[in-house]
Amino acid sequence: MTANELTSGDFTETNEPFSLFGTWLKDAEKSELNDPNAVALATVDPDGMPNVRMVLLKGFDERGFVFYTNFESRKGCELLATRKAAMCFHWKSLRRQVRLRGPVEIVSKEEADEYFRSRPRGSRIGAWASKQSRPLESRFALEKAVAEYTTRYAIGEIPRPEYWSGFRIVPTSIEFWHDRPFRLHDRIEFHRPAPEGGWMKVRMYP
Ligand SMILES: Cc1cc2nc3c(=O)[nH]c(=O)nc-3n(C[C@H](O)[C@H](O)[C@H](O)COP(=O)(O)O)c2cc1C
Repeated sequence: MTANELTSGDFTETNEPFSLFGTWLKDAEKSELNDPNAVALATVDPDGMPNVRMVLLKGFDERGFVFYTNFESRKGCELLATRKAAMCFHWKSLRRQVRLRGPVEIVSKEEADEYFRSRPRGSRIGAWASKQSRPLESRFALEKAVAEYTTRYAIGEIPRPEYWSGFRIVPTSIEFWHDRPFRLHDRIEFHRPAPEGGWMKVRMYP
């Protein structure tokens, strides 16, 4: 399946980035081997040293791009300190890239609760058992913590840990890139001075 079979029309003619992103994500759901929603998340620490790792995109709309994590993890601490992030999707099967950046908000408690409830029971226990990004003395220590929380929450609903929630990147720029022959790729960037503003579109040299 090629990108041209999936999306009709010239994407560079689009004037609204969220609907274009939705179309490309749907295309990726059809063509990627796994995790079409996997995305590299870049943060910076308070000294300006960058950091990057993969996360799973769990929602997007005109408010922004949402993922969930442990707020006491390295990324959690960096995001709480700087409130800035960037993301980069690469769909190899489609030869497409989308990058975006902007300020970061915390999702509402209701939104986080709803998503937490939708996770498999084992993942909800895992959120309690993992002190993400802190040293772990042995695999056994993790398994012991899982066993303890499994017993503690054997009956009834598993509450969402206070430290486990979602971040929303509110993009001030979103760039779409599509492979073309001889590295003469198509690139368009949407940008706005502030999250409340309207989008401006620029075609860029590849
Ligand atoms: C495909 C993929 C998806 C992942 N999704 C998430 C996620 O949604 N949330 C998360 O906290 N970690 C996720 N991880 C693990 C992170 O990449 C990372 O190892 C972990 O969150 C700790 O990062 P930190 O120390 O920078 O906080 C994922 C890893 C991979 C490879």
